[in-house]
Amino acid sequence: MPETILIASDHAGFELKEKLEAELRSLGYRVQDLGPASDASVDYADFAHPLAERISHGDAARGVLLCGTGLGMSYAANRHAHVRAAVAWTPEIAALSREHNDSNVLVLPARFVGDDEGRAILKAWLDTPFAGGRHERRVEKIEIADPS
Ligand code: RB5
Repeated sequence: MPETILIASDHAGFELKEKLEAELRSLGYRVQDLGPASDASVDYADFAHPLAERISHGDAARGVLLCGTGLGMSYAANRHAHVRAAVAWTPEIAALSREHNDSNVLVLPARFVGDDEGRAILKAWLDTPFAGGRHERRVEKIEIADPS
């Protein structure tokens, strides 16, 4: 059974969302697009919260969010328990966010990465496992400040 990846954006991330969704499908993932359906102006939190809620409840293991800087989406997503949303603007940061921080949401700053860069960041994030070990203890300590 292929892994299902949730994806959502605001208007600034819409175009790259459509491209990364196609990329995910071509890599063999199932994708659930939580919107928006066009590049009309929307508020990022309206799309970050539903995706993060589903990750938090375990409906899906991983998701991808996109907005202009990646910041608004990450602020909103990280308010949900067990969500570790990482803004990544290089493949190395994306890989480290998995390896060291066990990120379960990748957040892309769509106004600051090109299409090929976006695909490379996504691929690095998808393919990198959590290293565990000493990082396990550090990640567990994040939940001490669980907001829920
Ligand atoms: C929208 O103009 C922009 O503010 C949004 O995409 C994002 O960058 C917010 O953090």
